Amino acid sequence: LITANRTRFAAAIACFILASCGGSSSGVDDVISSAKASAVVRASTSDSNGKVTLPLEVLSSGGSYTVTTTVNAPSGQSATRLWMRIHNLAFDNEASVQVNDGPWIAVSNQSASIEGGGKAYGGIGGGFSTLKLSVPITSAQNGTNTVRFRFNGTDGVVSGYRVLGFNLRDASSNNLVDEGSNFQWTDPTTWKPGYPSTTDISAGEQLWRTATIVDSPLNHSTLQAHCMDCHAQDGRDLYKFNFSDNSIMQRSMFHGLNETQGKQIASYIRTLTAKYGVPGSNCRPWNPPYQPGDKLDSRPRTDWTCGAGIDSVMDNDLDSQRWIFPDGINKDAVATGKQINLREIPISFQLPDWMHWLPRIHPKDAWGDYFTNSNLNKEYAGDGGGSATYNMRSVLASGGSSYVTDPKSLFLNQLYYWGVEYGERFQPPSKGVDYLYTIDQQKRIYSTVQWQLMKSWELAQDFNLETLCPTAYRNAGAPKAESRSWCGQWRFAFDVSPHIQKFPPENSMFGSTVAHYYFANAWYELQILLNPGSGAHNVHLPVDWQYTYGLVDDLSRNSGRLEPMRNLLLVVKGSQEMDNGVGVTDVNRGWTTRDTSPLDVWKFGANGIWKDASDSTRTAVVNAFLNTWLDRSESFDVNTWQRVDQAGGSNTCGWSERRLCWSWYVPGQLALGMTSSVDFPTNVFQQIPQMRTDGVDGGLLNRFAAELGRMYPNGNYASLMH
Ligand code: HEC
Repeated sequence: LITANRTRFAAAIACFILASCGGSSSGVDDVISSAKASAVVRASTSDSNGKVTLPLEVLSSGGSYTVTTTVNAPSGQSATRLWMRIHNLAFDNEASVQVNDGPWIAVSNQSASIEGGGKAYGGIGGGFSTLKLSVPITSAQNGTNTVRFRFNGTDGVVSGYRVLGFNLRDASSNNLVDEGSNFQWTDPTTWKPGYPSTTDISAGEQLWRTATIVDSPLNHSTLQAHCMDCHAQDGRDLYKFNFSDNSIMQRSMFHGLNETQGKQIASYIRTLTAKYGVPGSNCRPWNPPYQPGDKLDSRPRTDWTCGAGIDSVMDNDLDSQRWIFPDGINKDAVATGKQINLREIPISFQLPDWMHWLPRIHPKDAWGDYFTNSNLNKEYAGDGGGSATYNMRSVLASGGSSYVTDPKSLFLNQLYYWGVEYGERFQPPSKGVDYLYTIDQQKRIYSTVQWQLMKSWELAQDFNLETLCPTAYRNAGAPKAESRSWCGQWRFAFDVSPHIQKFPPENSMFGSTVAHYYFANAWYELQILLNPGSGAHNVHLPVDWQYTYGLVDDLSRNSGRLEPMRNLLLVVKGSQEMDNGVGVTDVNRGWTTRDTSPLDVWKFGANGIWKDASDSTRTAVVNAFLNTWLDRSESFDVNTWQRVDQAGGSNTCGWSERRLCWSWYVPGQLALGMTSSVDFPTNVFQQIPQMRTDGVDGGLLNRFAAELGRMYPNGNYASLMH
């Protein structure tokens, strides 16, 4: 079957490039996924009971490929749409679908209606890796219906897509196919090596580590990278997320290996059960790593990476409210002195799937010797001609767990400086210019920083860091150690954000400005989930909170989709990180108005981020946060608060200032060296009256004005009190 698919490859690609694949399905392999033809179904699926086994893997080594299913819809004739949930639709017309003898429908942003955040963030080829969408149909019938899914060929990146569910729907969006009697899920816990012999398995491992491979069926250039270089070194990522044998075989052939070699690699990956045990039920390719969800922490720590599953992604941002405020909206739930568990609060923001963590270009292939001989490379595993004297894999292997948890060991320092090797020192001559990077330059830069994140993931898994880092944090004196986290102050995840990489939003490698901002947000969100700082931040590391709040607005400006609850969670978490006992005498490590501002929760209320929320929700949430913020700010002696004109200060005031402005400052006036008066005291002065109109509690606003009046006695804040 697969060989046949390969020999047809050239024709299929031509068909794809000429975009002439519609109409007839001749020349395309059909795989029947129904009881009647179970013999040709892949080994991992079992549908002898007549059910369609999900997911449908519409995957190939590059060429066109079709999966055929049959489902029963007693009143199918009334269907007006084919509804689907699909993982990895990366470009228009990657997929075509057909119902019975109806026309093939190419699935695109034009032909399909896409639901919710998926649509808002760019639809097919946009931010979300898994989309819910539907296309209009007229060819469904009562009883048995044949539904075909075709992959139209690769773009040089993807190997196809997975159908996670589908249905025929009538004009009122009722499902006409009964899910229970028509669908079942494949069970990865039953998967065994296809080639169980030790010879094949060690050949598979050898290929994984050393086989010479090509980029893709569209570009046959040989890569310096091997499978192990872009993935986890021993393939545990493919194992952990339960990539199937079929997917591994097709992808091996995608890179120029043959079917037997692909099957050997897949067989090797299956043997990792002995090393790592059986991955939990959320460990599937489409479930976004670390996606937050209800009771996530009660699942095994080793499964944290698999996240809470795609079903934990809320359709609406406001749906998060009941997890943030299970007992109704009140200030205790958002108190800055507490520690909210973001891992367990579902959000409506679908994080990138594993395939979007992987680098598309290995840094050796992107930058050649510059990377090979860099300390960025050397400090990972000792490879290349860099001058560094340590590498993370060997210090962790030889040092054992005490090396991670002993605050006197060099570990945190070494990890930090490995981060710096990319974040501050990696300047290849052909890198390009900030904000002017070409698409090609963006792809190479992005892949390089993804490589470092992916290898950080590998280190975290291989050396048990998700368990040890909280202890390391506690031993180093961090007051708010998370129960699960990554280590140290380097920003491995938020460094991947195209925002911090200074990519041009208007000319984005992600295909659209909105997708740029989706990814810009996604990696900040992941940083905060993985390692928010444990109350031990240093200036903007490991998170630059105020930028995170700003990126939420950049995204909604481009998508039209508002996220008041995700924004609230970020400001609450950031404020809790600032409320760490250090206070205001050291604003680089303690409390600062920059990262805790109640204005960042309010964000212009009913005229801004809270537009779609009810009046009562909006005012209750803003009041609750303003109240806890005042409790904390009022507790500090304003005379001890660091100011810009004191030692180490900047002696000018701006929007991103951590210190208070001069004690004599009058909001709105340009003082010493200021080119604009966009700063905290001015913003508060202007916005208190607007907050009053918006329904924020008058007593709290009087307290707010009084607190600013203590900070800035000449500021006339008393005029804002009522
Ligand atoms: C240059 C880096 C790189 C190399 C080398 C590489 N991969 Fe990947 N791999 C990726 C990326 C990126 C993706 C995600 C592709 C996408 O977005 O559809 C991926 C996806 C996959 C998938 C999932 C495909 C799917 O759609 O289910 C498998 C399986 C896989 N790779 C196996 C391999 C094997 C086996 C090798 C060696 C023969 C290999 N990879 C070499 C980067 C790489």
